[in-house]
Amino acid sequence: MSNRLNVAPNDLSAFWMPFTANRQFKQAPRMLVAAKDMHYTTSDGRKVLDGTAGLWCVNAGHCRPKITEAIQRQAAELDYAPAFQMGHPIVFELANRLVDVAPEGMDHVFFTNSGSESVDTALKIALAYHRVKGDGSRTRLIGRERGYHGVNFGGISVGGIVTNRKMFGTLLTGVDHMPHTHLPGKNAFTRGEPEHGGDLADELERIVTLHDASTIAAVIVEPVAGSTGVLIPPKGYLQRLRDICTKHGILLIFDEVITGFGRLGAPFAADYFGVVPDIITTAKGVTNGVIPMGAVFVTKEIHDAFMTGPEHMIEFFHGYTYSGNPIASAAAIATLDTYKEEGLLTRGAELAPYWADALHSLRDAPNVIDIRNIGLVGAIELKPIDGQPTKRAFSAFVKAFEKGVLIRTTGDIIALSPPLIIEKAQIDEIVDCVRSVLEAVD
Ligand SMILES: Cc1ncc(COP(=O)(O)O)c(C=O)c1O
Repeated sequence: MSNRLNVAPNDLSAFWMPFTANRQFKQAPRMLVAAKDMHYTTSDGRKVLDGTAGLWCVNAGHCRPKITEAIQRQAAELDYAPAFQMGHPIVFELANRLVDVAPEGMDHVFFTNSGSESVDTALKIALAYHRVKGDGSRTRLIGRERGYHGVNFGGISVGGIVTNRKMFGTLLTGVDHMPHTHLPGKNAFTRGEPEHGGDLADELERIVTLHDASTIAAVIVEPVAGSTGVLIPPKGYLQRLRDICTKHGILLIFDEVITGFGRLGAPFAADYFGVVPDIITTAKGVTNGVIPMGAVFVTKEIHDAFMTGPEHMIEFFHGYTYSGNPIASAAAIATLDTYKEEGLLTRGAELAPYWADALHSLRDAPNVIDIRNIGLVGAIELKPIDGQPTKRAFSAFVKAFEKGVLIRTTGDIIALSPPLIIEKAQIDEIVDCVRSVLEAVD
């Protein structure tokens, strides 16, 4: 390991850290300097088991040789190629490979650099699609309370997490929100999809009645809401949303930035639930989190609607300098190879029952008020300390890190999403650690 990585810099002030309590972090930094497979190494030389796949993205585990080598090779061969009006073969190969693993009907891919950009791209595609079809009055976008769709203006407008919205003015106009589906009074400690709440999809009908279908372009939801604390859709809910959207000519967007690439034990949540949307947004797992990249999948019908007009004209005025960057594309192809060789896009299904049993064994641990699971995702919701929301879960996060397990918290919820290469003994290690920290924190 290089010396530079071993020595923590003595001035941490210049870097304004994202989604971090900067002052608190800089008093007691948690530094990661290396990683391999299921583990990180800290700057003080400790091994930390990764219970969160980084930020829900390192699905194949860390520093996988095929991906590392592909990046090295590509960086030496073709480092960059202009993304507009020029091409390079590797991005076309990647698009074909992605379409092969995507749900049936998702025939075209638009590349971005992050989940936030994928979401804004999808919203723009939806608006522009209706317009090119001569239906330009469809300008409204419908999201959902507690939804997380990244941090760009489109994503926070359709998103439903108040802290991510309230500082940033009026956001996009013409956006409405469906209610979230979290019903702890009825569904607490459910394994998999909850029984109650499928009828909440009918709220979409109410919104359609309020605004009229002719003004609505798209509905966007995470099939499983991740960042807000793992909210699993009630039975029948997603199919009902699909039916209502189809009935009214509204596009349905699944934000699969977390659920894409095997997280639920199927390649995509659309496969898992048997509900196919019109657009799927992805990022994170597309390159195993190693290089920034996002991919937006659309149906042939949406794509072909743009392929009209004079052939010399740009059909869709949108794109990024790094859309389909050669090094990111090489990383993504090597990631897909790794997923395929190791069966990772479906491995979660084999482990899911063991994962569920392990998580639900924490039901009697101190302050646990709910446990939720699906595929290789889980959440343990804690009773907040009176007057100090989030503190109990954050203390658990810090203690778990000290004990050698990386967990993630949002509010008073512990969210777990390990790399899909995890072994059963490592599941036990995560759960034992969570139990011991819940017994130790206030
Ligand atoms: C569902 C969903 N959409 C979008 C995003 C934003 O992705 P990024 O942080 O890559 O912009 C995330 C990130 O966690 C996400 O979970």
